[in-house]
Amino acid sequence: MKALIAFYSQSGCTAVFARKILETFRNGGIECDIELIKPIGKMRPGLKDIEFKGELPDLSGYDLLLLGGPVWAMTINPPLRLWVKRFADLTGKKAALFITLGLPFAGVARGAIKAITEVLENRDAEVLGSAVQPCFFIVPEKAMQKAAENLLKTVQGN
Ligand SMILES: Cc1cc2nc3c(=O)[nH]c(=O)nc-3n(C[C@H](O)[C@H](O)[C@H](O)COP(=O)(O)O)c2cc1C
Repeated sequence: MKALIAFYSQSGCTAVFARKILETFRNGGIECDIELIKPIGKMRPGLKDIEFKGELPDLSGYDLLLLGGPVWAMTINPPLRLWVKRFADLTGKKAALFITLGLPFAGVARGAIKAITEVLENRDAEVLGSAVQPCFFIVPEKAMQKAAENLLKTVQGN
C-alpha cells in the first residue's frame, strides 16, 4: 500500500501531526509521501475560491490519502476542502483524516469531518476513519503519537 499525506497547516500544529503520521505509517510498513498544501493569498474561513502553488499531484500511484488540516469556524478549513475538490474522481482511493482544533473537545471536529467526508465521497473515495487532536496552547506530541498509531490500526483493519 502506498499513501500520500497531504495537509494544510497555518500555525504548525497539523504539520507536527502530519510528521507523526508519516513516521508511524512508515514504521508500520506503509510507503508514504508527504505534501504541504500551499494556498496563495491570505486564508480565512468561508473562502470559496483559492489558487494553489505548484501542480496537483498525480494520485495514480497512491492507494491511500491521509488528509489533514485544522477546524476553522466549526468546519473544515477552505484550503484542504478546495484542494481535495480539484480532484474530479477518486474512485478506488481510500482516505483517512487527521484534524486539529483549538477547543479541547474532539466532538467540535464533527462538522469538519462531515464536510470533508462529503467532498471525498462525492468523488467516490472510501473514508476509513479519522484522528482528531486538540492543540490547546501546546502541541501535544504524545497524544498525537497515540492518535497516529490508532489511525494506522484503523487503516490496517480495512
Ligand atoms: C480562522 C480560524 C478559525 C478557527 N476556528 C476554530 C473552531 O471553530 N473551533 C476550534 O476548536 N478551533 C478553531 N481554530 C483553532 C485551530 O483549529 C487550531 O489552532 C488548529 O490546531 C490550528 O492548526 P494549524 O496550527 O495546523 O494551523 C481556528 C483557528 C483559526 C486560525
